[in-house]
Amino acid sequence: MHHVLQHPLASHILTHLRDRTTKPATFRTLCHQIGLLLALEATKDLPTQDASIETPLEPMQSPVLAQSLVVVPILRAGLGMLQPYTDMFPSVSVGYVGMERDHDTAEARSYYCKLPPLEGCRVLCVDPMLATGGSAVQALNVIKEAGATDLRLVTIVSSPEGIAEIESSHPDVPLITAAVDRELNDLRYILPGLGDFGDRLYGT
Ligand code: PRP
Ligand code: URA
Repeated sequence: MHHVLQHPLASHILTHLRDRTTKPATFRTLCHQIGLLLALEATKDLPTQDASIETPLEPMQSPVLAQSLVVVPILRAGLGMLQPYTDMFPSVSVGYVGMERDHDTAEARSYYCKLPPLEGCRVLCVDPMLATGGSAVQALNVIKEAGATDLRLVTIVSSPEGIAEIESSHPDVPLITAAVDRELNDLRYILPGLGDFGDRLYGT
């Protein structure tokens, strides 16, 4: 179950993220911008409940958010997608899962985990790149073990192989992504992709 963000501005931003000449400072700004569009897409069905308020002219019932939100960036590149949530959502909690792919085998290794209470919350696991799917599958395992039941994965670029992996290992977790690319290369990088997201985000 995956959903591809459809917005001309998202396509425009993605083109500049992909461009090899884009420098880290601009790359971070673009990451924040597309992260905001994805955050709005991933939360557009959050439940609301009516609150009693008074406008300057009369009382009224008006909707407010009715479900707490938890965002879990996969370190380190997922940090680039975090700020839209902390800027926009009044009572968001943040958890962290650290995953690192081995450069030779592309297998993900977990090195850190700190999660807030997850019961009853909409939990969004965010990571810009879904390549083999190994990092995301492990992160989703950990987040489910910690109690998440309403869980989604939000990525910027996804490969067909990564999507198949999520759909087979976590069929109950919807994926929201800005692009589905062609394939993985021999080193398990996404083609055409945008390179190593963490390196481009942090200039490493
Ligand atoms: C990148 C990316 C994902 C992972 C995707 O992280 O941010 O977490 O690779 O690849 P996969 O689907 O094959 O697991 P990386 O391991 O390079 O670490 P970083 O975020 O610290 O750069
Ligand atoms: N991680 C990245 O940053 N880019 C890829 O293409 C694959 C994994």
